[in-house]
Amino acid sequence: MSNRFDKYDYFYSMLGNPEATFPTISANLHRIRRHSLAPFFSVKAVQNFHNKLQGLSERLAERMIECKATGKPVPLFLAYRCLTADVISEFIFGRQLGIINREDFGRAFYESWRSLWDLSPVIRQFPWMMKVLLGLPRWVTAALSPKALEVIDMQAQIDQWTREAINDSSEGKDAGKSGSILAALVTTDDLPSDEKTFKRLSIEANSLLAAGFETTGAVLTHMTYCVLTDPPRRAKLVKELRQAIPDPTAIPTWQALEKLPYLTAVIKETLRHSVGAYSRLPRVIPKPMIYANHLIPAGTAVGMSALFIERREGIFSDADDFIPERWLDPAEAMRLEPYILTFGKGSRDCIGRQLAFAELYSVTATIFRRFGEEIELFETTQDDIEAYHDYFGGMVKWGNGRKGLQVAFSKKS
Ligand code: HEM
Repeated sequence: MSNRFDKYDYFYSMLGNPEATFPTISANLHRIRRHSLAPFFSVKAVQNFHNKLQGLSERLAERMIECKATGKPVPLFLAYRCLTADVISEFIFGRQLGIINREDFGRAFYESWRSLWDLSPVIRQFPWMMKVLLGLPRWVTAALSPKALEVIDMQAQIDQWTREAINDSSEGKDAGKSGSILAALVTTDDLPSDEKTFKRLSIEANSLLAAGFETTGAVLTHMTYCVLTDPPRRAKLVKELRQAIPDPTAIPTWQALEKLPYLTAVIKETLRHSVGAYSRLPRVIPKPMIYANHLIPAGTAVGMSALFIERREGIFSDADDFIPERWLDPAEAMRLEPYILTFGKGSRDCIGRQLAFAELYSVTATIFRRFGEEIELFETTQDDIEAYHDYFGGMVKWGNGRKGLQVAFSKKS
C-alpha cells in the first residue's frame, strides 16, 4: 500500500490554516507544496546558513553573560524558544523577530502561544473557534485575551514581510538575493499561481514558524536538564568540547561538530528520550487493511505515538533513562537509529530536521563549551521537563508563575 495517506482533518484542524504544508490534508496537494519547500531545507541550504545560526547562538551566550554579570538566573526554557523563533524567521525571511533581545526573554511571546495551545483540545472539537480567534479586531482581542496579542502581532509582522517579498518580486527586484525562502517561493515555477497568493504564502510562513520554534526549544530544554543533572556525563561532554574546540568563541560548523562522538550521542539520546510529538499523528487509510487479524475499513484514521517506540524496553534497554552511551557503538547505533521517530517518518516527516540538527549542535556546543562547568540548575526539577500535556508536542506544565528550566552561574565561576 502507498504511504501517501491523507492526514486526518479532525485531528489537524486545531492547527488552523490548512493552506500551509504542515496541516495540508490531501496527500496530492501536499506533494506539490512540499516539493516547493524541499530545496530550501536541504543539507546544503542549512550549511549555507551556518554564520547566521552561529551568530544567534552567540547572542544567546551574550544574554547569558548579562545574567551572570547581574547575578540573575537565566530562564533557559524561554531563552531557547526566543532563539529558535529568531532562527526560523532569519531562515525564511532573512530577518529576525528579535525575540532573543527582549528584556523578558520572550515570556510574553511564549505565554501567548501557550494560551493557544492550551485551547487546542477545545479547538479540535470546535474548529471554527480558531478562525474566530484569529479574525477578531485587535482591540477586541486586547479586551478579551490580551495574552493572545503577541501571536496576532507576530502574524501581522510575518504578513508584512510576506507582502514586501511579493512587492519586491512584482517590481522586478531580485528579492531572492537575500536568500529569503519567501522571496524565492513568490517566483518559483514549482507552484501554480493560486498557490502563490499573499494569503497562502503568509500562512505558509506563519506555519513554518510555529512548526519549528517550540519543538526545537523543547528538545534543547530537555537536553540541558538531562546533562546538568548528571555530573559524570556533563564532564564527558565538556571534556570532548574543550579538546575539539580550543577557542570557545570559534564554534565549528554543524558538519564538523557531527564528528564529535559524545556530543552526537547526547543529541541522539535527547531526541529519543524527549519524544517530541506525543500525539498519534493520524492518517486516513484509503483502502481496507488487515492489521493483527483485524479488518480495518477504508476511511479509518490510524496513527501511533512515537512514545511507544522510543521508550520501549524491548528496543532500548532502560528506556526511561537518559543514556547517551548507547549511541557510541556504531553497530548498535545503526540498529537503534530507525527507532528514532522524533521527526516522524515517511512523506510527511519533518522537513526542518536538518535545520533542527544544525540548531541542536550549534547551541549545545556553544553553551556547554563556554559555560559547561559554570552553570547549575536553578529552582528546576523533573516536574519542569516532564511532558504533562499532549498538545501535539508533549508540553510541560505551565502557569501559576512557573518558569520552566532555569540555570544560574555557580558562585566560584
Ligand atoms: C527538534 C525539532 C523538531 C521536531 C521534534 C519536529 C517534529 C516534527 C514531526 C514529528 C513532524 C511530522 C508531523 C506530522 O506527521 O503531522 C514534523 C513535520 C514538519 N516540521 Fe518539524 N520538527 C522539528 C523542527 C522543525 C523545524 C526547525 C522546522 C522548520 C521550520 C520544522 C518544520 C516542519 C514542517 C513544515 C513539517 C510538515 C512537513 C510535511 O508535512 O511535509 N520542524 N516535524
